[in-house]
Amino acid sequence: MNVLLIGSGGREHALAWKLAQSEHLDTLYAAPGNPGIAQHATIAALDTADHRAVIDFVRRNAIGLVVVGPEVPLVAGLADNIRTIGVPVFGPGREAARLEGSKGFTKDLCARVGIPTARYFRVTSRDGAIACLDDFATGADLRCVIKADGLAAGKGVVVAMSRAEAEEAIHALFAEGPAEAVIEEFLEGQEASLFVLSDGTVTASFGSAQDHKRVGDGDTGPNTGGMGAYSPAAVLTPELEEQALGEIVRPTIDALAAAGTPYVGVLYAGLMLTADGPKLIEYNVRFGDPECQVLMARFEGDLLETLLAVAEGRLADLPEPAFADNVALTVVMAANGYPGTPETGGTITGIDAAEATGAIVFQAGTRDDGGKLVAAGGRVLAVTATGESVAEAQAAAYKAVDAIDFPTGFCRRDIGWRAIG
Ligand code: AMP
Ligand code: GLY
Repeated sequence: MNVLLIGSGGREHALAWKLAQSEHLDTLYAAPGNPGIAQHATIAALDTADHRAVIDFVRRNAIGLVVVGPEVPLVAGLADNIRTIGVPVFGPGREAARLEGSKGFTKDLCARVGIPTARYFRVTSRDGAIACLDDFATGADLRCVIKADGLAAGKGVVVAMSRAEAEEAIHALFAEGPAEAVIEEFLEGQEASLFVLSDGTVTASFGSAQDHKRVGDGDTGPNTGGMGAYSPAAVLTPELEEQALGEIVRPTIDALAAAGTPYVGVLYAGLMLTADGPKLIEYNVRFGDPECQVLMARFEGDLLETLLAVAEGRLADLPEPAFADNVALTVVMAANGYPGTPETGGTITGIDAAEATGAIVFQAGTRDDGGKLVAAGGRVLAVTATGESVAEAQAAAYKAVDAIDFPTGFCRRDIGWRAIG
């Protein structure tokens, strides 16, 4: 079967790497792809925002499955448009993708069906936002979280630890005119990410991971798309996972099915493990990046067969997805300046030496510059290794990182620290 993979990040390189191992694969096409993805796929010169062009490509190349990596095309309705020609798509349609596209939509759905999540208000004006702050005050203390409504690539959230911080965030939010936001209760606990496949009605757990969102060691500095991850997240015990599936994920899938907008793809539930049990922080309608890299390093099944079964509503026919009984850990190497404006054009060498240690180097923001690999984005590489424990996987990943020469890049040196400590 021919497959078209949409996307160009480390997540998509990991998907391409795993799809290429399938015995059912004929040709893998990728758009827009990157030099790492090009090791496993034929790059298609396609503007993925032009849905008509994508559909033409799918027809002309006898594509049997389209796998959509990032959220932007899903929120824009690419999956719906491809489904109109009867080709299976791994990824939700526009309406179900609102789980990531609109925080307000998700919070209202949680409220309607009783899903545990932070108490919240939806606000559309500065005054309304300021007025609801009192509700999050305990005595002189005030803690709350302010979230812009739409897709924000990880930048739309402010965790405010005082009234002054909350007011500053609200002023910034409304500084450029009308806006929509959710203001919610601050939840305390450990965070974990749970991935669940859904074919519209049937779900299958697809592993867990823990991300490192802050740019600096010890979880300091600004938020990023993710500087590293490991899988599984041991804090999410089998009991807590079952609770999260039963109280959070399955009711969501059921509510979307009942509304006539079934969820087909992978649902990424960002969870806070509170003293009162798991609560939903947010949903993403795709694999995490770099969480996908660690999931793919551990997944033991045939990825093409699995994603096709999801896309065709046949998840019940498959055995439970199986993962290696080890730990995978990935370290993101980013270009200097990230998460601000990254320095592009810096040369990268040593990937072969890194992979000779047994690690896998997934590429994200890279570009082939006349045979030289150079940085072309914020997050550039995801150096991924496995081991019997988090400590072993961490040592293996940093051994590979140290084999890479990327003078204009940096990475965190402590990925996995919470699990090791
Ligand atoms: P989000 O984009 O919704 O995942 O938020 C980004 C990060 O902000 C999360 O990974 C959490 O660390 C933090 N966060 C979001 N919502 C809450 C909350 N209600 N309580 C505490 N921390 C939160
Ligand atoms: N690593 C976080 C995300 O993919 O949203």
